[in-house]
Amino acid sequence: MRTIAIVNHKGGCGKTVTSINLSACLAERNERVLLVDLDPQGHSSLGLNVKPEEIEKHMYHVLSETQWDVGMEDVIVGVDKYLDLAPSGIMLSAVEQELAGQPGREDRLLNALAEMPGEYDYIVVDCPPSLGLLAFNALRACREVIVPVETSFFALHGLGKISETIKLVEDRFGQKKHMQVLATIYDQRTRIAGEVWEELREHFGENLFRTIIHINVQLREATGFGQPICQYDRRSSGYRDYAVLAQEVLSLGKARVHRDGARAATSASSLGTQPVEDGVRFSIYAPGAKSVQVAGDFNNWNASEGAMLDVDGQGTWTKVLCLKPGVYQYRFRVDGQWGEDPNNPRKVESPYGVMNSIIEYGERERKQSSEGTQEIEKGF
Ligand SMILES: Nc1ncnc2c1ncn2[C@@H]1O[C@H](COP(=O)(O)OP(=O)(O)OP(=O)(O)O)[C@@H](O)[C@H]1O
Ligand SMILES: [Mg+2]
Repeated sequence: MRTIAIVNHKGGCGKTVTSINLSACLAERNERVLLVDLDPQGHSSLGLNVKPEEIEKHMYHVLSETQWDVGMEDVIVGVDKYLDLAPSGIMLSAVEQELAGQPGREDRLLNALAEMPGEYDYIVVDCPPSLGLLAFNALRACREVIVPVETSFFALHGLGKISETIKLVEDRFGQKKHMQVLATIYDQRTRIAGEVWEELREHFGENLFRTIIHINVQLREATGFGQPICQYDRRSSGYRDYAVLAQEVLSLGKARVHRDGARAATSASSLGTQPVEDGVRFSIYAPGAKSVQVAGDFNNWNASEGAMLDVDGQGTWTKVLCLKPGVYQYRFRVDGQWGEDPNNPRKVESPYGVMNSIIEYGERERKQSSEGTQEIEKGF
């Protein structure tokens, strides 16, 4: 079972939208998911059409000292075949004060989850906009942490505080956490969004999701209608972004199993472009597609020379192309439909008025990738 806390003390950065839609997109792939709403505002509950006034018991009753006999099984409600919700309510805000000074107060959620009879592949915890006792409980109970960051002004402000808190939990309880930052509410019409993304990449490297969550009005509407985006509008870019994120979360888990078990032969996050020896690997998530190609300056925009392969049989299409160092423009073609690379924020407008993605492939990347290959080979 994988446990993921969605944390950022900054308000409005997309924690709840990510909690709901990542959970729903994982569930859509037949992963059994429990979404725990740990925010007294109850937005995840409302976003899944579970109204606080209509439920008797919620996460307050599970965590409170005064309610000994309430377990997770008493509050969980079914949302969809593979998706359950542990709802929240405004009373949850009293828990921090109620448990102040109590021994073991940081372990309340961990213990509740451990005693839960249900079996899940994923537990996703939506946290409130603070780093108080509730977020601490989530960090204690979860092995993985996703930090959504809105790609706008002051986005990076305060991120150090989250890293510090995670480190504190790691040191105190002796358990390593995996933290991944997620760029959200990305508005490609603004320059700041690209700049923030570059800064995040510089700062967090591999620990930044390759998937970017773009600004999308349907995502906002879906929450208002109490539906995850996969029910509300499957043609929206919001659905595509969260479906791709679910794929990346799944492959990160697989890569970690490899790495923890012995060695990682594959990169953890493989969508977009990656330098490999003598060229670049292009990858896009297009589940259900019948044919996918990549075309650009490098193959004279001839899609038939860029046919991609569904490498995992689950919609991850890949192609390695040998490239000379240079700057190239490219696009993907999915079942005849041309589009830019959703995992690459670098774009330029073409003379035909469409956006082309850009890749810069230089001597440095070529050298790094061949050194990387040698390192991996040495490890075997
Ligand atoms: N990708 C997106 N495109 C458009 N609107 C979005 C997107 N993500 C989030 N929003 C909207 O931004 C607002 C804040 O999002 P959300 O509630 O997920 O943030 P949050 O971090 O959970 O906030 P809080 O800290 O209050 O819990 C909401 O109105 C939501 O609908
Ligand atoms: Mg929220």
